[in-house]
Order: sequence, then structure tokens, then C-alpha cells
Amino acid sequence: MLCLVTLILLVAPRVVSPSNDNQNKSLFILAGQSNMSGRGGVGKDKWDGVVPPECRSNPSILRLSPGLNWEEAKEPLHEGIDFAKVLGVGPGMSFANSVLAQNPSLAPIGLIPCAVGATKISDWFPGTFLYTRMMNRTKVALQDGGTLRAILWYQGESDAINKEDADQYKERLENFIYDVRSDLNFPTLPFIQVGLATAMGPYKDIVRAAQFAVHLPNVKIVNAEGLPVGGDYVHLTTPAEVKLGQMLADAFLHNI
Ligand SMILES: *[C@@H]1O[C@H](CO)[C@@H](O)[C@H](O)[C@H]1NC(C)=O
Ligand SMILES: *[C@@H]1O[C@H](CO)[C@@H](O)[C@H](O)[C@H]1NC(C)=O
Ligand SMILES: *[C@@H]1O[C@H](CO)[C@@H](O)[C@H](O)[C@H]1NC(C)=O
Repeated sequence: MLCLVTLILLVAPRVVSPSNDNQNKSLFILAGQSNMSGRGGVGKDKWDGVVPPECRSNPSILRLSPGLNWEEAKEPLHEGIDFAKVLGVGPGMSFANSVLAQNPSLAPIGLIPCAVGATKISDWFPGTFLYTRMMNRTKVALQDGGTLRAILWYQGESDAINKEDADQYKERLENFIYDVRSDLNFPTLPFIQVGLATAMGPYKDIVRAAQFAVHLPNVKIVNAEGLPVGGDYVHLTTPAEVKLGQMLADAFLHNI
């Protein structure tokens, strides 16, 4: 009998159906481009599989899967969400571990990964696939007894490629923040963005200035300047993503 129970526990999938899990999770939306999704440790078309201690799984850190089930979160966190890409380490797991280390009362954490590489902010306007999917996923997560705590946003590199996009970035970002908050009926939802360091496009300085010029309530910004970029010259390294996750956690927990 005992053996049977053990066997069942061993083979049971580690998936918790949203309807069976009414814990009051601390929910976080993760959205934006590849550096939010995670490419840390990705070399020649392959992830090195290295998960630093700061990014380890923990039964108190869950993720909403692509099929809308809660499961124990693990790297790569955006698996199945940022599809058809080679994914690696992003800031999400490091963020969640750092939040829990500093404030265990926020457990369990429910991460809602939504980021997709190479997307422009216009790909996130209301009515687009990305916006609708993010809203759908967040609403499913909320139905299950969670409290939405913040949205983490790392985007803008693709809007630094042409001047028209860069010039419109401030207004588009403010509209995005407004739309997300209003569609979630949460006008003070904390919005934590990452200020671009370098970008592929020539108009990085315009986008970065726009990011820092947003002065809406409960909008915070952490600065990616100085974080190391990998051998591909395009993506943050694993140590950089670990550090970024910790910076986002500090921004969420403390007054910056
Ligand atoms: C969940 O936690 C939040 C914040 O602590 C609290 O405001 C809310 O009432 C709690 N909800 C439930 C269903 O316990
Ligand atoms: C969002 O949810 C609606 C209603 O369930 C569904 O029809 C739609 O396909 C979903 N869209 C995305 C992009 O997830
Ligand atoms: C990722 O972030 C780094 C550091 O800010 C930046 O140099 C790079 O352009 C970004 N890559 C993409 C694809 O957005």
C-alpha cells in the first residue's frame, strides 16, 4: 500500500490545476523582448543548461504554463511562450528567488511569462496577439486566488531601429501602461521597466530618454547600463540576467 502511494506520488505530474489551487499567490507578469524572455547561456543554437543557484527552482515559485496550468517554475522560464527560439536564462527566476529571500511572506509566487523576442511596442498594442494573450493569461491567473503585484517590462530595443518608432516611444509606452492597468482594473498596478543600455538600433538614446521621461505614478525603472552582454553581442549573459532579476526585486520591494 505504502509502495503504491509512493509510486503514485512519483509519477504524478507536478501540475496543479488552477481550479484546485486557491493559494493567494503573488502574481507577476513578465513581458517584453528577448532579454526578458532569456537568452543567458545560449551559444551556437544551444543553451548550455547552466542554472546558477540564484535561479534554482523552488516549490514556492510557480509559473503559468502555455496551457494555463500552474507548475513548478524552472529555467528556461519562457519555454513554450517565446516559441521557436533557443531559450536560456532570463531575469524571472532570479527575481522570484530574490523576492522570497527578502520577503518570505510573499510566497507562493506565481510568474506569468509573456515575453517574445524581437517585438516592437506596436506588437503589444491592445488587440494584438501578444496583448490579448498576456491579458488572457493574467485573468486566468487572477481567477485562482492570486494577487497581482507588478508587471516587469524589458522592451524597446526593437523600437530603436527606426526614428519614427523611437520618437513615438514615450507616448506609446504611456498608453501601454494605461491600457494594461485599465484592462486589469488596477490603475495603480506597479510597472517596473528596464532602462536600455545598448541596443541594436541607432536610436537607443531616444528610446532610453523616453523610458526615463515617463512620470506616471507607480512606474519604476532599473538601469541595465553596465550589465555584461554575451559573446553574441546581442543578449545579456546569465550572470547579467541574475543581477537584473535582483535589481528588479529590489525595485519592487524598496523605494528606488
Ligand atoms: C491576498 O493577499 C492580499 C495582499 O496581502 C490581500 O489584500 C487579499 O485580501 C488576499 N486575498 C485572499 C483571497 O486571501
Ligand atoms: C484569449 O481568450 C479568448 C477567450 O477565451 C480566446 O477566444 C482567444 O483565442 C484568446 N487569445 C489569445 C491570444 O490567447
Ligand atoms: C539585450 O540587452 C543588452 C544590454 O542592454 C543590449 O545590448 C541588447 O541590444 C539587448 N538585446 C536585444 C535583442 O534586445
